[in-house]
Amino acid sequence: MKLFAVVLLLVAPATALLPDLLEKLWPEQNEGVFDGVARIPYLDLLNDNSYIDPFLLQSMKKYGYFYVVDVPEYSASLEHDIMKQFYDLDEDVKDEIAIRRHNPANKNAYRGYCPGLDDVENTLQYKNLYNIGPHETRAASFESDDILEKLRYDCQEPNVWPETGNCTFDKVFKETFQAGFEIRRNVGRAFIRSIARAMEYPNLPALFSEDEFSAMGLRKYPIRRKINSNMYSDFDGTLLRELEHIDSTVTVLSTFNNAGLEVLYKNQYRAVPVTGENSFIVNIGKLVDDLIDNKVPSVRHRVAEVDFDRYSITYFLGPQFDADISRSVSGKLTDAGQKYTIFGEWIKDYLGAIELFYY
Ligand SMILES: [Fe+2]
Repeated sequence: MKLFAVVLLLVAPATALLPDLLEKLWPEQNEGVFDGVARIPYLDLLNDNSYIDPFLLQSMKKYGYFYVVDVPEYSASLEHDIMKQFYDLDEDVKDEIAIRRHNPANKNAYRGYCPGLDDVENTLQYKNLYNIGPHETRAASFESDDILEKLRYDCQEPNVWPETGNCTFDKVFKETFQAGFEIRRNVGRAFIRSIARAMEYPNLPALFSEDEFSAMGLRKYPIRRKINSNMYSDFDGTLLRELEHIDSTVTVLSTFNNAGLEVLYKNQYRAVPVTGENSFIVNIGKLVDDLIDNKVPSVRHRVAEVDFDRYSITYFLGPQFDADISRSVSGKLTDAGQKYTIFGEWIKDYLGAIELFYY
């Protein structure tokens, strides 16, 4: 049968169609499926070199994601090592910077350490998280009867950093992830500028000029000791670590050399090549998808079960507090617009669950 197919391929006139034909003949064959995903150099993205725009847009439309590569002065393996060291710290050291749900002595509701291995049955989550935001200090205390102004203040939680007694570790940890946050924020914003140019949506970048809610999450998915029966995919029965979902805003992701991420492409979940030493994956979620009239897909994805402790870093860039998310760039009512006008209202409903669920 395969010999027949090979002969068929050799005589097929349109060689450009070979990849599609191969997929039809051997649908399980994922090798090379994502070879066409764009790999955009970091500096070209940041410097608004418009030659990248059609490649980026085409990749987003076809695959739902692209890679940012060649990031200067960035080491994924350094981040990965330090993150592992953080998770190897004694629990009481990490508890010192835990969010208040886990350590009532702390004020922060979402910036800090969020252990997430309890209540697995109800949340379906099995991951620990350390959440970093854009603020190092909180503004002077604020008294106002205006609910939204109070919310704006409440949301600006200052970061908390580990204090281990090892000054060198503490310094390297803080500096590395402050720098890592900046790089990802740059990527997220430059992506918005590129897509705005490519799709001729000049008003889009203005919705992202502040990033009060951007969030970087250092995630550890430990090996599961017990299989939760709810973690089998409804789609194809695969055992999962993270159920199928779409994101909400703009996602900049590091998978390092840790396999497991799969995206839905041509009605099949397929393994996404890892980001490795020097790249990021960028995709969008539903909120942003709706803002741009659903012209670019918010790709469905999941994490398959793997037999090792899996580390990843997510970064989410949302619109600014005052951004009107009720209408798309062409004025259509968005799904979020049924209930909310500005992003600040939307995020309020999300804060309690931020990161422990899907953001
Ligand atoms: Fe996701």
